[in-house]
Amino acid sequence: MSDFITKQKRSHYCGSLSSGDAGREVVLMGWTHRRRDHGGVIFVDLRDREGIVQIVFNPEFNAPSHREAHRIRSEFVLAVRGLVRLRPPDMANPELKTGDIEVMVEELEILNESRTPPFVLDSSSADISENVRLKYRYLDLRRPEIQQKLILRSKAAAATREYFQKEGFIEVETPVLTKSTPEGARDYLVPSRIYQGMFFALPQSPQLFKQLLMVSGFDRYYQIVKCFRDEDLRADRQPEFTQIDIEMSFIDEDDLIKVMEGFIAHLFKSCLDIDIPLPIPRLPYREAISRYGKDNPDIRFPLEIRDLTAILKTAEFKLFQEIAASGGVIKAIKVTDNRRLSRKDLDQLRDYVSDFGAKGLAWARINPDGWTSPIAKFLKTEEIKSVEAAMEAVSDDLLLFVADTPGIVNDSLGNLRVHIARKLEMIDPQAFAFTWITEFPLMEYSDTEKRFMSTHHPFTSPVMEDFEYLQTDPGKVRARAYDLVLNGSEIGGGSIRIHKQEVQSAIFAALGLEQEEIRNKFGFLLDALEFGTPPHGGIAFGFDRLIMLMTGADSIRDVIAFPKTQKASCLLTDAPSRVSIEQLMELSLKIVQ
Ligand code: AMO
Ligand code: AMP
Repeated sequence: MSDFITKQKRSHYCGSLSSGDAGREVVLMGWTHRRRDHGGVIFVDLRDREGIVQIVFNPEFNAPSHREAHRIRSEFVLAVRGLVRLRPPDMANPELKTGDIEVMVEELEILNESRTPPFVLDSSSADISENVRLKYRYLDLRRPEIQQKLILRSKAAAATREYFQKEGFIEVETPVLTKSTPEGARDYLVPSRIYQGMFFALPQSPQLFKQLLMVSGFDRYYQIVKCFRDEDLRADRQPEFTQIDIEMSFIDEDDLIKVMEGFIAHLFKSCLDIDIPLPIPRLPYREAISRYGKDNPDIRFPLEIRDLTAILKTAEFKLFQEIAASGGVIKAIKVTDNRRLSRKDLDQLRDYVSDFGAKGLAWARINPDGWTSPIAKFLKTEEIKSVEAAMEAVSDDLLLFVADTPGIVNDSLGNLRVHIARKLEMIDPQAFAFTWITEFPLMEYSDTEKRFMSTHHPFTSPVMEDFEYLQTDPGKVRARAYDLVLNGSEIGGGSIRIHKQEVQSAIFAALGLEQEEIRNKFGFLLDALEFGTPPHGGIAFGFDRLIMLMTGADSIRDVIAFPKTQKASCLLTDAPSRVSIEQLMELSLKIVQ
């Protein structure tokens, strides 16, 4: 232990000092953010987790510390004792929270030195390659912006526990070494040494355990819990991520949604001092797809999609006729003030939608004297009038059309509306626009699997009035499921569960699962359903995604202390890594390459 620390204790955080402390003697400990030698006087920006303060080494004030200060370099760890004083007004730094004061150093101890860091630890290092930042994550984490995000994350976790405890929820931990749960992604497997050739799976979520806790009578459960999914990663996905996981008994959708809205309001108020207006609007799945092309719509800006198939299927444009005749659709979005998009922009937008499978992007500029459009020549005056009426279009508007299968059209226009809104700066960056998506289909046909697959998971209750279609038209059965969407990101999803064994068996059968497979995978759940299971339902929020949106981060990796890369590896520890032959032999495993 250094002399300094045994003699005197830290009195303040650097960033917590203010002009009110002028005249006070303080003891500070922190890292050297920057050092400037102004021939005679040395200035150091000293940094700790609360912020930065300028400390001054002046030979006239204290000669020995000034002499020692020549040794200081970036990221050296310092302990100083000194006097807080107001800076002369012309020396104040309005960029800095503590910019109107400085600390005149009387005593310095260099607690530790540092190698020259591989990058400068200020906001400009955000431009450094992310791989370098992740390799030296412990340095990257010294950056004030990242620290602020993790501090907010900690506050949000505390606010979560505070809310759910107050609402009578019980926090229960569920196993990490478990059996594969069917959330739809690939499992991470862990070989068992004791049962050679057998594997645990890391949970994709605690889904089955939380349902079993309802069977056990816990009534209201919550947990902030790690989940693991071996899936393709994106800016908002990590192989290991955190859920706020919830389950409740003796409730219906409305009861659950009410408690969750209370949670969201509490979270935003206590962490960001923002009032979220309640109730949060609800949008049935079909309507979300039809108006926004997606089940996670960004509703911070209008730009809605309209279906023009009925009007354009008989137009003289052969392509439209053929697409409509083969079950396709013709849809459009409207951009006001068409001069904001040049001809070149339109070509770029066409290239943009081609990534989603669209074979073209027809456009029409509406002028006082008619349309400028490559498709105008195919349309009769009354068709043009009907399109304008359906789009509520007026002079100066621009219409963008895609014709194709419903899937391609929704995907293209759903993404195009967001792309245009970003390009034309139509999105208020301060806005938080929530929406519930309800009435999901229970199952969707998978062309690759050649069978119906659960949209959420197989324990989701069907809407009972649709149950009759389970045999005849399974795609028509609606689920008692809901997602919560914030600014175009799915931040939570859940459902009312099946609590009757007969219904669960019927669903497994409709999903084409064999009896043996059902017994093998979910036997324990089916058994439990025969022992007095209460009606129940739940939801899980993606905690990392929530924090990403609350802090305005671009990537989920910015709100996780030690994240994995887009390629699912950890550059800091070099994981995953090879293991020794002895370890493999102990597990009876052999690598085949
Ligand atoms: P679901 O699979 O929808 O539901 O997951 C719930 C929420 O978790 C977040 N999420 C992710 N976040 C980061 N990286 C990932 N790879 C990732 N995958 C999902 C999303 C999502 O909305 N057991 C059910 C919940 C329930 O039915 O109660 C479940 O896990 O924000
Ligand atoms: P063409 O007659 O081939 O020049 O097409 C006329 C316009 O229709 C062009 O602007 C094309 O980009 C557009 N177009 C072509 N295919 C499609 C499609 N599937 N959906 C919408 N517009 C299309």
